[in-house]
Amino acid sequence: MTVTAGQAVATLASPHATTRRYVMCAPKYFTVEYSINPWMDPGAPVDVDLAMLQWAELRRTYERLGHLVEVVEPQPGLPDMVFAANSATVIDGRVLGARFRAPQRAAEAEHFRRWFITRGYRNVVMPSRINEAEGDFAWTGRVLLAGSGFRTDPEAHAEAQEALGVPVVSLRLVDPRYYHLDTALFVLECGERAQIAYFPGAFSSGSRRVLERMFPDAVIADAADAACLGLNGVSDGRHVVLPAEATGLAAQLAARGYEPILLGISELRKSGGGPKCCTLELHA
Ligand code: ARG
Repeated sequence: MTVTAGQAVATLASPHATTRRYVMCAPKYFTVEYSINPWMDPGAPVDVDLAMLQWAELRRTYERLGHLVEVVEPQPGLPDMVFAANSATVIDGRVLGARFRAPQRAAEAEHFRRWFITRGYRNVVMPSRINEAEGDFAWTGRVLLAGSGFRTDPEAHAEAQEALGVPVVSLRLVDPRYYHLDTALFVLECGERAQIAYFPGAFSSGSRRVLERMFPDAVIADAADAACLGLNGVSDGRHVVLPAEATGLAAQLAARGYEPILLGISELRKSGGGPKCCTLELHA
């Protein structure tokens, strides 16, 4: 059989990691004392010490993989501040902050805005529409996939396109359990050959067709993968951090040459969060 150079690359190339920069915020003041998504039951006990251990393990995992982790100081009275992904979208040095739907989370946005200013970011814009940042925005390296339906306003998508100068593709979420885009979809590989994993059941039929068109070879997760928040994954292009229960998805990823890393996130899931929610990525 004759193999051309191009084919050889396509067949032999295995997923490769690139170094990432993440921002995290420890769950020091984590509780579930209000309910703003179907996962949150203020009556159910939460083990804060265990949440701290699970978060520390996530951070250690990133550092072990060679990624840079910066931390924002947690604030008393803001139990959801651990979900750093909701607080900014950062692409090519431009920062689009957040505007939360729930009043209980509103103050988080300003803490993160100040952190970016202190860190020397010059292009920091605050949104005028409800915008829960990477909770609803996923950067593929070419387009920004943008969710709406439960949290981020559809008008915030146009605002993000203008503020960040990147093309935005709007997607509509239809299942309240998957209230943020990052509970239903994540980017496995960024760039020219961008690849995603997603749970089709979380999207409207039109949005499913958009995703099929854009990513015909995507990893399709099933209802069990989604139900443990398995789509709240974090990939560096090779290693994919997932909730421990997402074994079906992990097997699919391993079959494609990725290295799944399964972590316990039981306490954060009681708030509707997982690895990705705790991880804001600085895209340069
Ligand atoms: N309790 C938080 C909320 O409902 C969880 C946020 C999870 N973050 C995420 N990126 N999905 O707002």
